[in-house]
Amino acid sequence: MSLYFLKMKTMIAYYFLLFGHALLCTVSIMAKDLPVGHFTRRRDVSSQSLLENTCNNKRLDLVFIIDSSRSVRPYDFEKVKEFILTILQFLDVSPDATRVGLIQYGSTVKHEFSLKTFRRKQEIERAVRRMMHLATGTMTGLAIQYAVNIAFSESEGARPLNQNVPRIIMIVTDGRPQDPVGEIAAKARNSGILIFAIGVGRVDMNTLKSIGSEPHEEHIFLVANFSQIETLTSVFQTKLCDGGIWRSQGLLLPPFLRECLHNICCFKN
Ligand SMILES: *[C@@H]1O[C@H](CO)[C@@H](O)[C@H](O)[C@H]1NC(C)=O
Repeated sequence: MSLYFLKMKTMIAYYFLLFGHALLCTVSIMAKDLPVGHFTRRRDVSSQSLLENTCNNKRLDLVFIIDSSRSVRPYDFEKVKEFILTILQFLDVSPDATRVGLIQYGSTVKHEFSLKTFRRKQEIERAVRRMMHLATGTMTGLAIQYAVNIAFSESEGARPLNQNVPRIIMIVTDGRPQDPVGEIAAKARNSGILIFAIGVGRVDMNTLKSIGSEPHEEHIFLVANFSQIETLTSVFQTKLCDGGIWRSQGLLLPPFLRECLHNICCFKN
C-alpha cells in the first residue's frame, strides 16, 4: 500500500515537471516532405547568443556517427566537422553532464573517441579537427552495430541504464549503405537509444527511415548538401537542450503529452 502511494507521489511530481517542460518545449520542425529550403529560415533563429550555455547540466550520452565514405568529398567532410563543432558549442561537456563520443565509418568503423575519452570540450574539439577522412565504403549497419555493442557499453563510458541518462546517436550520412541497417538500427532503438538521422543530398529516404527514431518528422532530417547541415543547428539545440527528450522509465505519461518509442518519450508538439 505504501509503495503504491510512493509511486503515486512520484507520478504526480513528474506530471508537474512535465507540464513545466511542455511549456518550454519549443515546436520543432522537419519532415521528409518539407522542402529543403525550409531550413534556411531556421538559420536566422540560431544567433550566436542562442548557442551559448543552453545545455547547462544536461545529462546526455551522445555519440556522433559520421559517414566518411568516398562519396563524401574532402570539402564536405570539413562541413561535417564544422557542424559537430557548432553542436559542441552549446553542449555542457563534462563527465557529470554531457559525454560525447564519435565514430566515423567507411568500409570499417573507426572509434575516434569514446564517451569516456575526454573530460573537456576543448579536447573534443581538437579531436574533431584532427579527424582524418577515411574515404572508403559505406558500412552504415556495421557502424550502428559498433555503437550499440561498444560505444554505448559502460566500459567505454556510457552511464548505466538505471541512471536514466538519455542515450543519443546523431548519424550523418550521404549515401546508400552497403550493408543491412534496418534490423540493427531497430535493435539500437529497442535498447533505448534515440537516433537522429541526418541525410545529405541524394540519400535514400527509406534508409533514413529505417535508421531514425519515431516519429520520423522529429528525428529524420534531410538537407540538400553538406553546406546546408549548419541550418540544422538550432533545431538540435532545441532537441538536445530544451528537454524534448524524455525518458519515461515506465511512468505512465498522459498520451496527449507523449510520443514514445519504448522507454523514451518525446513531447508532442
Ligand atoms: C547547397 O544547397 C543550397 C540549397 O539548395 C544551394 O543554394 C547551394 O548553392 C548549395 N551549395 C553547394 C555548395 O552546392
